[in-house]
Amino acid sequence: MSDVFESAVPAGGASGARRLGWWVLWLLLAAISLHFLFKVLGQYGQLDPEHYTMYWSRRGWLWLHIGGGVLGIVLGPVQFLSRWPRARPRLHRWSGRFYFGGMLLACAAAVGLIATSPAPLAITLAFAATALAWLVTALVAMRGIRRGDVARHRRWMTRAYLVTLAPVSFRLLLPAWIALGNAPSPDVIAVLLWVSWALPVSLHVVWVNWPRRSPVMAAG
Ligand code: HEM
Repeated sequence: MSDVFESAVPAGGASGARRLGWWVLWLLLAAISLHFLFKVLGQYGQLDPEHYTMYWSRRGWLWLHIGGGVLGIVLGPVQFLSRWPRARPRLHRWSGRFYFGGMLLACAAAVGLIATSPAPLAITLAFAATALAWLVTALVAMRGIRRGDVARHRRWMTRAYLVTLAPVSFRLLLPAWIALGNAPSPDVIAVLLWVSWALPVSLHVVWVNWPRRSPVMAAG
């Protein structure tokens, strides 16, 4: 999985220590994502208004959304496993299709959730921007592979996956904000929703365009 980021490094340039560092980072990310998924399934696995709070009357949308979102979070790392695209191209293509389908389902349900949300405009706009970022990054990645540009496909799939992880990042950012003694006002929540995907994606853009990278990898 370190391949995701190392794809931006010229072949042979990754030292053992760096490789280990990426593995540690990915394992940490996987542990945090699993924790998020268990919490979500634990909460919404209890079919009653108390656990669903404001989602009880919109549970149909929520189930579709969570179903697609779980597929995206789980299949993302499968896509990135280093040698699959080369050694198992059919498996890579099929899990990619399910990933894409999950994303479309989660996005369509997000539209339903946004349209029925009692949240203030700043928050619904932040959700809409996240959905758009999810679609755009994945579509650019698809376009890349259809044109045979594997490097572009990888770069943009990495960004699409970083957007997929936005709810995970958000659930880290919000408690951190509160732990610093701040109140979670609606405006703050909206800003954190933006930050939860825009920051990781921006960091990735900076990373692949860092001057020491080869011009081929840095293109876009
Ligand atoms: C990245 C694009 C995503 C967008 C645009 C998005 C959008 C939304 C929206 C609009 C809501 C309802 C907010 C409201 O009613 O005020 C919501 C809630 C929720 N979403 Fe997403 N979502 C995304 C990704 C995901 C993923 C990947 C998961 C993984 C399972 C997920 C799980 C949830 C859950 C569990 C809720 C209920 C609130 C909670 O318990 O946190 N979402 N999402």
